[in-house]
Amino acid sequence: MDIPPGHELNADQIAYWNGPGGQHWTDRQQAQDTLLAPISDILIDRAKPKAGERIVDVGCGCGATSIAFAQKVGPTGHVFGIDISVPMLARARQLAPAGLPVDFVLADATVYPFDTASFDLLVSRFGVMFFAEPAISFANMRRALRPSGRLTFACWREPRHNPWMMTALQAVYRHVPELPQPGPEDPGPFSFASEQRVQRILNEAGFSGVKMERCDLSLDVAIGRGLDAAVETGLEIGPASRALEGQPAEVRAAAGNSIREALTPFARGQAVPLPASIWMVTAPAS
Ligand SMILES: C[S@@+](CC[C@H](N)C(=O)[O-])C[C@H]1O[C@@H](n2cnc3c(N)ncnc32)[C@H](O)[C@@H]1O
Repeated sequence: MDIPPGHELNADQIAYWNGPGGQHWTDRQQAQDTLLAPISDILIDRAKPKAGERIVDVGCGCGATSIAFAQKVGPTGHVFGIDISVPMLARARQLAPAGLPVDFVLADATVYPFDTASFDLLVSRFGVMFFAEPAISFANMRRALRPSGRLTFACWREPRHNPWMMTALQAVYRHVPELPQPGPEDPGPFSFASEQRVQRILNEAGFSGVKMERCDLSLDVAIGRGLDAAVETGLEIGPASRALEGQPAEVRAAAGNSIREALTPFARGQAVPLPASIWMVTAPAS
């Protein structure tokens, strides 16, 4: 496997997304894309892609948003998905319909030599929270935007506003030791939760006029397949899955039972909707 070298400070994340983390996400691609479809809809709505535009999708993973944006820009436009994960990009290439104007590159967006002023729009669904030095990464990406360009990305608000992820984790903690608390600026899913921090990073990278819109929504952790599927989601994604890494089958089974108990009050028929909250961040390139 040819892992991209990337910025030296991103080495841990590059290893993670090319190790069990990236493999796991790839194995669950279909379920993840169904679960996160409401976020794609909000992202597309706020980004307002136009026919003929050139778009870069940062941390594009298995490519769902790259493909969706390519369908919006049409044959005269183009989408360029960039990601550091070999298994996730392999899936993206498999999923992209032939003839769609979308290409993928395996590289760290922090150091990738983008053509200067070559994109109209930078988008991302949860792909920008994993940089060790995000101001450096965003400065590199800003160079790739035309002066008339813009960025639009989605990132998670604080854990307490995202019970869809944290309910399972609290249940799992009845059986396993708590994960070490990451520092507020450490790369990870919640590293862009602070509005002040995101503003600071983007200002340092040269963006001004940054707007952050809070979007509260609900995510169906069962993806329409009932409580068993919701328990599986709880066991397999986010911090709960990391807390369970390496645990024996009986501990996983007990954790599964606790997740079921915690999720049962949320069940509505085959759906198990739980509250979620994101920032939709937008800014002009200049
Ligand atoms: C939470 S996943 C989101 C994937 C995808 N955007 C989605 O919504 O399904 C985060 C993605 O960011 C990618 N990523 C992390 N650091 C990166 C970097 N420095 N450059 C490019 N991609 C990166 C990971 O490989 C992973 O695919």
